Amino acid sequence: TFVVTEPCIKCKYTDCVEVCPVDCFYEGPNFLVISPEECIDCALCAPECPVDAIMEEEDVPADQQDFIQLNAELAQQWPNIATKKPSLPDAKQWDMITPKKHLLER
Ligand code: SF4
Ligand code: F3S
Repeated sequence: TFVVTEPCIKCKYTDCVEVCPVDCFYEGPNFLVISPEECIDCALCAPECPVDAIMEEEDVPADQQDFIQLNAELAQQWPNIATKKPSLPDAKQWDMITPKKHLLER
């Protein structure tokens, strides 16, 4: 399954949702997640993300392992998103900043 990780926080470019053939992205205030139950591992979304936030579960770095559980959990709470929309207003400013995990809004 594919997982959205830290770089997405406060950016939310949403290019990823446009290409997903099964529409398995879910949207929170400043982050998106992928439902591991619905993702078919097509890999189309990963290259679309301008900040490389999406990767295969086995490639998630050690310091971001908690995002695997976060994607699973939040996908059940947040609404679906299947159409691109404008990124967050300060996306450019935030896209290189780490750490920003603590800024994830539920
Ligand atoms: Fe959707 Fe494919 Fe990305 Fe899974 S890998 S979230 S199915 S685009
Ligand atoms: Fe986030 Fe990248 Fe998609 S910033 S919304 S994972 S295109």
